[in-house]
Amino acid sequence: MLVVIKKNYDEMSEEAAKMVADLIRRKPNCVLGFSTGSTPLGLYKELIRMHKEEGLDFSKVTTFNLDEYVGVPPEHPQSYAYFMWENLFKHINVDPRYVHIPHGMAQDIEEFCEWYEERIKHAGGIDLQILGIGANGHIAFNEPGSSLGSRTRIKTLDELTKRDNLRFFTNPEEVPKYAITMGVGTIMDSKALLLLANGKNKADAIKATVEGPITALYPATIVQMHRKAFIICDEEAASELSRKYSGYLS
Ligand code: PGA
Repeated sequence: MLVVIKKNYDEMSEEAAKMVADLIRRKPNCVLGFSTGSTPLGLYKELIRMHKEEGLDFSKVTTFNLDEYVGVPPEHPQSYAYFMWENLFKHINVDPRYVHIPHGMAQDIEEFCEWYEERIKHAGGIDLQILGIGANGHIAFNEPGSSLGSRTRIKTLDELTKRDNLRFFTNPEEVPKYAITMGVGTIMDSKALLLLANGKNKADAIKATVEGPITALYPATIVQMHRKAFIICDEEAASELSRKYSGYLS
């Protein structure tokens, strides 16, 4: 695991964008795993800038998103599909045929999840999966207690996650209770992981992920077992680490 500590959010985002852009330039038809939330917004902004100013070409890239709320259609402003189109896809030259986002309105969720796993396999696997981390240690919607070998499936959202999501919906009844999410095992099958974290409220989660024991109660800790995992965080998110210097291998 390589931990890179940057001064602030902007530097974290730029470093992450460099890594993604390097991969796209080396392998124009690479498979990227994308995530949603506030953390990757700076990365997406920088990728858009690189596309517009430096001609970074996404036309052959295949994408898979980590998760989506159940019962929220793609055109809903709080859906993750909407988030991805608004914050990244509509600003770059990605081919919509190569974009995959779990479908929150799928009739048969189990069948959909199997199809999603198949599509990832068919694409040759994910070359680089971008991850955020929840304050409760979740990755994607693999909430505390998720099986560390889990595959794409429906998950009940944790109380803390629902509370965190309240700010995005006008009333509490609207806050989704379930999500379709790639499993921990699905994520671990990616050839490389890039986990981003910023801010003081992620400091405990980063400490557990880098230094804590591996436990299903903190699904992000499994990242320690990955052969090629990068964590890029800002100084605040790194503030609880006991061994703290940028660019250290653990
Ligand atoms: P955030 O969410 O980027 O909005 O903090 C990250 C996550 O919950 O995975």
